[in-house]
Amino acid sequence: MRRVRKSYGDLLVLDDLDLQVPPSQKLALIGPSGSGKSTILRILMTLERVDSGQVLIDGQAVWERDHRGRQVPAGSRRLREIRSKVGMVFQQFNLFPHMTVLKNLTVAPMRVLRLSRDTARERALALLEKVGLLDKIDSYPAQLSGGQKQRVAIARALAMQPRIMLFDEVTSALDPELVGEVLQVLEMLAQESDITMLIVTHHMGFAQDIADRVVFLDRGRIVEDAAPGIIFSQPRKARTRKFLGSILAAR
Ligand SMILES: Nc1ncnc2c1ncn2[C@@H]1O[C@H](COP(=O)(O)OP(=O)(O)O)[C@@H](O)[C@H]1O
Ligand SMILES: [Mg+2]
Repeated sequence: MRRVRKSYGDLLVLDDLDLQVPPSQKLALIGPSGSGKSTILRILMTLERVDSGQVLIDGQAVWERDHRGRQVPAGSRRLREIRSKVGMVFQQFNLFPHMTVLKNLTVAPMRVLRLSRDTARERALALLEKVGLLDKIDSYPAQLSGGQKQRVAIARALAMQPRIMLFDEVTSALDPELVGEVLQVLEMLAQESDITMLIVTHHMGFAQDIADRVVFLDRGRIVEDAAPGIIFSQPRKARTRKFLGSILAAR
């Protein structure tokens, strides 16, 4: 993202944001509510338009300028190609409720990636094994716990073989006792895959364990951008210290 500016009406949400994430990096995005974290992910997911600046995914511009200098989305073919590289898991489990777990994982790979039913099924089973849910392939989302749903959502995103995965507070709608199983899956994924990961989280211990880099955002600006060892033990900015202090105090 280069000098990305985004407002909702009078509210400036991203203020000339510069953020580059190299391939395979595991980046934790932290910051107070309303600081623009979800907006960044939604822009990268091409769900949200920017007012100005550039958004490049794997070198490809998501927005282009027309002859009058206005931002327009990239052509639909290019947009599809860009989108196929990015997967996202949201706070709210958004599984297809009328499909079994297995079908949730195979429908898009068959339709979009044109995989055969057998190949899609094989891949889905391998992913469900990874997230510990092989015994749930015939269940419907309503029959699963929140933690199980979120693990299916992660597996479903991975089934599209994205190069980049975006995670937006994927544990914040869960009962506390279910948070651990989802964080564990993310930790395993961060350790063993070369997928680039942007992870918005309030779990600072988790961020410290899995991230290569932590970006602290406040009011649409990057306040501090450092290795986890620095940001959590010797943050340079007073604003970062205050934020981390308030999170620790709330626990
Ligand atoms: N669709 C929208 N319309 C108006 N305001 C919005 C919209 N989406 C987000 N906002 C506002 O933009 C700011 C940043 O939101 P968001 O990126 O969701 O922050 P975060 O994820 O860091 O909590 C917030 O003040 C939020 O209320
Ligand atoms: Mg958010």
